[in-house]
Formats: sequence, C-alpha cells, structure tokens
Amino acid sequence: MSNFLDDVWRGLSTSPKQLDSRYFYDETGDEIFQEIMACPEYYLTNCELEIFSDQSGKLAEDLLADLHDFDVVELGAGDCTKSIYLLRALLERKALFTYYPIDISAHVISQLSIDLPAKLPGLGMQGLNGDHFEMLEKLRKISQKPKLVLFLGSSIGNLPIADAPGFYKKMKEYLAPGDLVLTGFDLKKEPAIILAAYNDKAGITRRFNLNLLTRINRELGADFDITQFAHKPAYNEQTGSCESYLESLNEQQVHIEAKGDVSFKAGERIRMEVSQKYTVPQTDEIAANAGFRPVRKYYDTRQWFMDALWRC
Ligand SMILES: C[S@@+](CC[C@H](N)C(=O)[O-])C[C@H]1O[C@@H](n2cnc3c(N)ncnc32)[C@H](O)[C@@H]1O
Repeated sequence: MSNFLDDVWRGLSTSPKQLDSRYFYDETGDEIFQEIMACPEYYLTNCELEIFSDQSGKLAEDLLADLHDFDVVELGAGDCTKSIYLLRALLERKALFTYYPIDISAHVISQLSIDLPAKLPGLGMQGLNGDHFEMLEKLRKISQKPKLVLFLGSSIGNLPIADAPGFYKKMKEYLAPGDLVLTGFDLKKEPAIILAAYNDKAGITRRFNLNLLTRINRELGADFDITQFAHKPAYNEQTGSCESYLESLNEQQVHIEAKGDVSFKAGERIRMEVSQKYTVPQTDEIAANAGFRPVRKYYDTRQWFMDALWRC
C-alpha cells in the first residue's frame, strides 16, 4: 500500500503529472478492462486472439522443437484469453511444462486458480501474485527449468519505447541462454483506427481511466471529483506513442490524506497511460539491444499486430 501512496504522490508532484498504469487493475479495473477488450474499437484483443486461435498449433510445435520439460511464465496474465489456446495446444501435444501466471491483481490470480484447472484438466500451474520482476525473483527459487515467457496484449507498449530494451535486459537476468520470450507488439497503422481504440464510443476507456482516481479516493483517502476531469487520448503518428490523459476542467485542489494537497490548473493534464505502436524493425532493434535474437514472427491476417518470438 505504501508503494501505491508514494507512487501516486510522486506522480502528482512532478510536472507534467502522471500516474503509473499498473494501478488501473483493482477489481473494478479488471472488470472494466474485460469490457474494453470486448468493445468493437479495441482491435488489439481480436488481432492477438486470431493469432492464438489460428496459430497455436504451429506455435506449440515451434516451441517444442526447442523446449522440453519447461516452465511457461506469463507476465500480466489477466484472464488468459489468448494464452489458453497455446496452453491447450501444448497439453494436446503431451508437452511437459508448468504454467506460472504472474499478475499484480490478487483477484486475477485467485480467479485463474479456479478457472484454469476446470478449463484445462491436467494443467500443472501455480499463480504468482505481485509485480513482474518480484515474481520472477520468487520463481527463481521455485524452478530453474528452461523458460518460455509470455508478455501479451501489447503490455510492453505501456513503457515508453526508450525503456523497452531496459525491460528486456532486466528480464534476461532471470533467463538462461536458449530460453524463449513471446511478446505481443501492436504495429503502427492508420492513426484513426488507433485513436478510436482508446476513445471508444461507449466511454468504457474513459471509465477505466477515471476508475483509477476513484481507487485513489477509496484506498488513499483522497477527494478527486471525477466529474471535474475529462478523458483525452492523443496519438503521435511520428513517434507511434498513443497517450491517455485526464484533463482538469477547472482550477482545483485535491487532498490526499497522509500527504497533502495537489493543485491543478484548468486544462492541466495527468498522463495516465502510454500505448506505444511499433514498426517491425523497431522490435528487432529492441531484441538486439537487449541481447535476444528474433526467431519467428506471427501476424494476424490484417498485419495490425505481431507476436514476436525471441531467443535469449
Ligand atoms: C492489459 S492487461 C493484459 C492481460 C493479458 N495479458 C492479455 O493480453 O489479455 C494487463 C494485465 O497485467 C497486469 N499487470 C499490470 N502491471 C503489472 C505489473 N507491474 N506486474 C504484474 N502484473 C501487472 C494487470 O493486472 C492486468 O491483468
């Protein structure tokens, strides 16, 4: 909890103001994110779902050419909508593996522990509730088997592009040569398509962003008036960065118990989330910078999304 308070206070005390997108996912945030994934404008889920539903057999065979008696570790597993296809394909091929879903949301991990054994009889699994790297550290003590790390849903896009190689370098500290990483990258495309995905007509993304202010009110004793903030996404075609902001409609002050007051000017924004869009060469460059070799790329039929397999 103290991390949440400190991170929020630090983010709102810097200029420009920002909040860490990992805090979106309380129980309500998890539910709203499910709605986002199901809304027509949010193409990312359907693209990656198509890759996993159509190509999991091929993917499983590609993986099994390299890995025997291994761990499948999924960072930010969510509800496993996509990875379940791969897990099923691996089980059908009698692969020897244990599945370790990692998620910062306790709700997600407890739900997976109930749902997955029912959906995938015979699956060996252990959920890990916490931050990616803290849980990779914990896993190091549980198993030293070869690893396949899944990082799906374009979650890597939540980091600024300049920070992506550092993320994989850190991940590499928990991997051994020959281990594999499969990352979902959202590719650059028509800007209107991208912007609509973060500004759906039903206002679900707006609710998702405002829910973090509600969470701060509830858990940190703050007094954000969420009617006084507007949801403003923006896409920069040159940099490929899509950013979501909450914009203060008035000059106002927000009080956070245990910390103090935060002042907002009218029109001042809080950056809530970055969603980076990539070109394929940019992803190869990140792999090379971080010490991975791109092995294979899996695309949806429109080539809007790519899951890239890298070897450590
Ligand atoms: C955008 S969802 C993606 C879910 C799933 N991977 C998919 O593609 O459908 C992100 C998930 O990552 C989790 N998450 C976010 N930040 C995290 C962190 N720092 N460590 C562990 N899990 C995190 C969230 O709780 C959420 O379930």
